[in-house]
Amino acid sequence: MENMLGKKITYTNNISVDDYNALRKVVNWIKVTEKRAEIALNNSFYICVALCENKPVGMARIVSDGGYTYFITDVIVHPDYQGKHIGKELISKALDYIEKDVLAGETVMVSLMSAYEREGFYEQFGFHTRPFGNHGPGMSMWVSRDITGSVVTL
Ligand SMILES: CC(C)(COP(=O)(O)OP(=O)(O)OC[C@H]1O[C@@H](n2cnc3c(N)ncnc32)[C@H](O)[C@@H]1OP(=O)(O)O)[C@@H](O)C(=O)NCCC(=O)NCCS
Repeated sequence: MENMLGKKITYTNNISVDDYNALRKVVNWIKVTEKRAEIALNNSFYICVALCENKPVGMARIVSDGGYTYFITDVIVHPDYQGKHIGKELISKALDYIEKDVLAGETVMVSLMSAYEREGFYEQFGFHTRPFGNHGPGMSMWVSRDITGSVVTL
């Protein structure tokens, strides 16, 4: 696949902590401490990274118990590269990886937390925007410890 500059996009399965936080920063997501980022990346079930001239320009990863639950997270395409089907390719590769893992007669749950107004991006792959049926809205919160040692949730 080629981007607007005619440069080829290739895909790999790993990313450094610095490149991971650089991608997060460019879409205004909070920085993950180096230690936690390293643990997160090392414990990922699957990582897919889009490269342009060896520079990471997009990523998606799956966290899973390897049995029933698969959670797609950290779906990021650098703003300079958005709208070029890189995000679509990243999600397709992640879903392919999960589907290959599911044997005849098995069912697994694949979930994610869509960023605001990105629901349409995920619906094209078959994801349902919650609430639907007996599924309520997804829920999440941040848990931080501030410099005074107090736990803060947001
Ligand atoms: C969301 C994001 C990953 C999409 O990646 P992208 O590479 O720009 O998207 P693509 O070019 O692969 O889009 C594929 C298709 O989805 C559509 N699409 C993209 N964003 C959409 C949205 N928010 N709603 C509906 N459709 C959308 C595109 O129009 C395109 O349609 P087409 O196949 O008919 O041309 C990217 O915009 C991004 O990183 N945003 C900032 C971080 C973020 O919000 N991540 C998601 C966290 S849940």
